[in-house]
Amino acid sequence: MSTPHDPGAQLQPEGTTEATTAAAAKDALHTRRAFLFKLSLYLNGAVGAVLAVPIFGYILGPAFRKSASYNSWVSLGTVSEFPEGETRLADYRNPVTMVSDGATGNAACWVRHIEGKRFQVFAINCAHLGCPVRWFAQSRLFLCPCHGGAYYEDGSRASGPPERGLFEYEYKLVGNHLMIQAGAMPTPATEACAKKPKPLIQIESPSSAAPAQEAEAAERSSSWPA
Ligand code: FES
Repeated sequence: MSTPHDPGAQLQPEGTTEATTAAAAKDALHTRRAFLFKLSLYLNGAVGAVLAVPIFGYILGPAFRKSASYNSWVSLGTVSEFPEGETRLADYRNPVTMVSDGATGNAACWVRHIEGKRFQVFAINCAHLGCPVRWFAQSRLFLCPCHGGAYYEDGSRASGPPERGLFEYEYKLVGNHLMIQAGAMPTPATEACAKKPKPLIQIESPSSAAPAQEAEAAERSSSWPA
């Protein structure tokens, strides 16, 4: 503010002072706007970066995980833990999961030690809708509690709604340890890539069944008394 004793104010005309004050106020406003605009840009950028990390992790994670864990072999224990002629439950940590998956990363499977170095390792999930099957040593059957599916001890289908046998893991013996390829859960897709895929249950067509039925009928009629 100018005073009557201010020599500079006395030299400037009244209109010039007002214009200078308005320009200074405009500059200050412009500077504040620019600052807030830049601040909002930085804040939005920071929020975007924080949100992008899990999104990119979700999208790109499987690609990185696959090479590292998909083909991993996991030990189920030593051979002595699976006595010959018996089928036992084993569990392992799924190598595809992360630490944050907690207990959901634990998986179970059934190990059948046939003899010597011959094993079968079955997925615990029923081939119908995935319920965990249980082994009954007395009847030598795997039974599914959900819809009554039954499997023989070699994993083949016995009865019930499942259309095929239990899925099997690839296995190998390394030293004294039984290893399974745990990263690739056994599914029809992985079995299709396997060297010896197991055929699905074949439903006999009426035409192929007819000759067998005719032969059976002929045999029955020949055995009747004349
Ligand atoms: Fe096992 Fe249906 S889930 S029979």
